Amino acid sequence: IGRQFSTSISKQNAIKNVTVIGGGLMGSGIAQVAAQAGQSVTLVDVSSDVLAKSQKSIGANLGRVAKKLYKDKPEDGEKFVAEALGRIKTATDPGEASKSADLIVEAIVENMDVKHKLFKQLDSAAPAHTILASNTSSLSINEIGSVVKRKDKFGGLHFFNPVPVMRLLEVVKGAETSEDTYKSMMEWGKAVGKTCITCKDTPGFVVNRLLVPYICEAMRLYERGDASARDIDIAMKLGAGYPMGPLELADYVGLDTNKFILDGWHKKFPDQPLFKPIPLLNKLVAEGKLGVKTGEGIYKYDKK
Ligand code: NAI
Repeated sequence: IGRQFSTSISKQNAIKNVTVIGGGLMGSGIAQVAAQAGQSVTLVDVSSDVLAKSQKSIGANLGRVAKKLYKDKPEDGEKFVAEALGRIKTATDPGEASKSADLIVEAIVENMDVKHKLFKQLDSAAPAHTILASNTSSLSINEIGSVVKRKDKFGGLHFFNPVPVMRLLEVVKGAETSEDTYKSMMEWGKAVGKTCITCKDTPGFVVNRLLVPYICEAMRLYERGDASARDIDIAMKLGAGYPMGPLELADYVGLDTNKFILDGWHKKFPDQPLFKPIPLLNKLVAEGKLGVKTGEGIYKYDKK
């Protein structure tokens, strides 16, 4: 009986049409996993060039998935790719693209004013039942949602890069997110293949709230000259069993991204010592040494 009950609930609330706003790194990954799971997806970006690139990269990623799933049946693999791609429409007008959405996931630039402008537009264009969610990494869900009327149907869906590979989804309950909305977001997360965890609207949610101060403490340790960068990374890999050291991770994520998150939190919570600025980080970013993507950060990389 329990199972029948939960099936009927999930059918009632099932999200079938998803609109993803922002066709960059995260948005294209979110569109891919939803399409792979059989959902109808509309991917929106201000730039049609970005949309063309996203479609290309989604196609290439799906090809890799198909190779693994259909090793011995390449023709089934081709069908899988064509069907998933066929479920993704693209658009440049967020209002128009919202009209048939059960869920809208926002993955545009990490800027409060830009997100506010978009969510006001989505709130007035989308049907009453549509859930609105943000994939923000570092901004407050309650603050982003402050501009919408449907506060009960607003929450956070925080994915990790690369979306098709990383298995976690943080489902963020805002102060006014309803239980129904929360359940629908959890079920949708499961349906697109993720393991979901729940948390409140706290800076960085769970993963980044722990990871960013950890990376920052490693930079401070290095800056003080207490140990070399290599030794800090070796220590955490061999002593704590982490797959990457904190300074390697900082370079991989991008030192500009680390600084952006830290500065935002420091501004909001000036008394929190874990969020204090790091002179070394500021210097490297000012010099354009942003990590792997620029060929130099804490470490130097071979430019290809
Ligand atoms: P990105 O720069 O790759 O993509 C953002 C896209 O949004 C761009 O293609 C841009 O043209 C588009 N865009 C900007 N304003 C728009 C608007 N008003 N309407 C429609 N499209 C618009 O950025 P990325 O890395 O995909 O990040 C997107 C969001 O996801 C941010 O909020 C970020 O904090 C969050 N996030 C990023 C992660 C990462 O590892 N990069 C991880 C988890 C979350």
